[in-house]
Amino acid sequence: MHVIGGPASTALAERVSRELGNAPFGIPFVKRFPDGELYVRIGGRLEGEDVVLVQSTRTDEDLLQLLLLEDAVREAGARRLYVVVPYLGYARQDRSFFPGEPVSARSLVHHIESDADAVVTVDLHSTTTLAEFRKPAFEATGIPAIARLLRERPVDLLVSPDKGGMERVKRMSAILDRPWIAFDKKRIDSEHVELSFPSEIPIALEGKHIVILDDVITTGGTIVEAAKQLHRRNVGAVVAACTHGLFLKDAFERIKAVTDEVYSTDTLMNPAEKASVAPDIAQILRRDCVPL
Ligand code: R5P
Repeated sequence: MHVIGGPASTALAERVSRELGNAPFGIPFVKRFPDGELYVRIGGRLEGEDVVLVQSTRTDEDLLQLLLLEDAVREAGARRLYVVVPYLGYARQDRSFFPGEPVSARSLVHHIESDADAVVTVDLHSTTTLAEFRKPAFEATGIPAIARLLRERPVDLLVSPDKGGMERVKRMSAILDRPWIAFDKKRIDSEHVELSFPSEIPIALEGKHIVILDDVITTGGTIVEAAKQLHRRNVGAVVAACTHGLFLKDAFERIKAVTDEVYSTDTLMNPAEKASVAPDIAQILRRDCVPL
């Protein structure tokens, strides 16, 4: 079995190959033709091989590289192709909100899965997207990876910045055996939110170590506001943790200014990636994507 790391996910792919017992690992050659078109080439024939191709699709370029790499793997004679998309872009448009719009998430998964035998992804924006796949599709979560990191650190309270993240924070609470709360969130615009504390808080906040847990950090507006609210209650330390760290523009610096630590998993390359989802992806590949 071979693991190929696309340009958007090279380090994570190498970690996955190690988790799969040091499976042969390669990275493709990628360039642009003078006219701007993309060119990719993998390292040779893969006759009868089972191949794991890892590539997040945060940008349109990532997506196009993934589609070309899938075709290259098939062209090289691979027997099976397992496509791992740690961060699936366009997942927020998971329904047609206004007449005339596409369901972008559905369109993407249908293109991505067309050359694949199975697809593995991590913390999709919405569970409905998993149901859009026609081939076997599996969703890992960033929770165990972040839990492995938090276990080594002081945590008094887990906070979800919105009610939508309640299940996530509850699961983390069960793993770490720590209490949790969820803010009420009202989005003002794409970069600003209003948050309010729940009426009951299970511990006195003063001096405590608080972890804000989210699935994705984009503009940072949510985490910055949550951290500010917590500091108004004189907490001791605030840590921000997420699965997908997009950190648009100066989001990372703005979050750093109001928190003590920022952690994300390695589904996207960023300065906060301190928790790896490689063991969780490898577990799914071994358990569900038979036969490896
Ligand atoms: C919202 O539903 C998500 O869970 C995140 O809280 C949100 O996408 C974060 O976005 P931003 O960093 O732009 O506030």
